[in-house]
Amino acid sequence: MSASSPRRVLLDADTGLDDALALAYLTAVPELELLAVTGVDGCVDGIRAAHNSAMVLQALGHPEVPIGAATGQYDGIATPPPVQAFGPSGMGEVVVGPPDEARSFPDSVELMARILDRDRLPTTLLCTGPLTNAAKLLRDHPGAARWIDRIFVMGGSIAAGGNVTAAAEFNILRDPEAADAVFLADIPTTLYGLDVFVQPVISTDELGTRPDDSPRARLSHLLLRELAALFPGRGAFLGDGGAAVVLMNPELASKTSYPARVELEGTHTRGATVVDRRDSQGGDWPRIDFVTAVDPDGIVSEFLRQINRKEAP
Ligand code: BDR
Ligand code: CA
Repeated sequence: MSASSPRRVLLDADTGLDDALALAYLTAVPELELLAVTGVDGCVDGIRAAHNSAMVLQALGHPEVPIGAATGQYDGIATPPPVQAFGPSGMGEVVVGPPDEARSFPDSVELMARILDRDRLPTTLLCTGPLTNAAKLLRDHPGAARWIDRIFVMGGSIAAGGNVTAAAEFNILRDPEAADAVFLADIPTTLYGLDVFVQPVISTDELGTRPDDSPRARLSHLLLRELAALFPGRGAFLGDGGAAVVLMNPELASKTSYPARVELEGTHTRGATVVDRRDSQGGDWPRIDFVTAVDPDGIVSEFLRQINRKEAP
């Protein structure tokens, strides 16, 4: 691959409002090739996630991106009900549809494996939902999975605790066995977790300005305004959109590698990311790269720059 080749990215997402922001960004960046978007059970089920991705990609003018869908947990453990942080549709009150209910999608894991086997080129897997599909890909398609150069995950935390329980972040708690399997796989893995997740915020002032007259800018504006309405505060947090920005712009974040596992038991701690911050400890635990700090303003301005960039006709 030449130095100028775009970065190849597979996005696995439980497509809701902030995953949709990630999609808006990923389809805007010229240095990136979005190979597929695969649905996973999370804040909506994996079929609904695929329909949401299809509607968002259509609205963004990228209906050509392949989409997969899948439901179910990694270990066959009963699927917990979704935590509908963004309402039943995953998109709050934002209407990007209607979904094409007649459309069927290939299985998420099979689609990822097919693309990796076909191209045989280094590819990054960005996960903005639970890690069910990622873990299944590693277990069921080891040959294809060896083309994954990094798994970049929105999930977990180092010291920020959880958001669904005191200890656990949603994407990890939804399928802890899958997350731990990903940790244990011998593939470089980055966690962009709750320590930084809510820091990149688009201010209320910025949200009050009229968006550029492009489908991407208009849709992003709607998504951001909805996030600001659902989570009132200083404005709208970029969430998964921030993870996508940091994936493509590592200079906007600091990372530290720590030994880490996922708590699979625990009366109050199932789904917690257990991070060993003692010097030179950790035994045989895998080392995971944690995003420890971000440049929130840099992330927001890069996001807005790409969202508002005029695409070549
Ligand atoms: C994560 O859970 C989902 O609700 C968001 O899209 C994000 O990926 C935050 O815990
Ligand atoms: Ca998500």
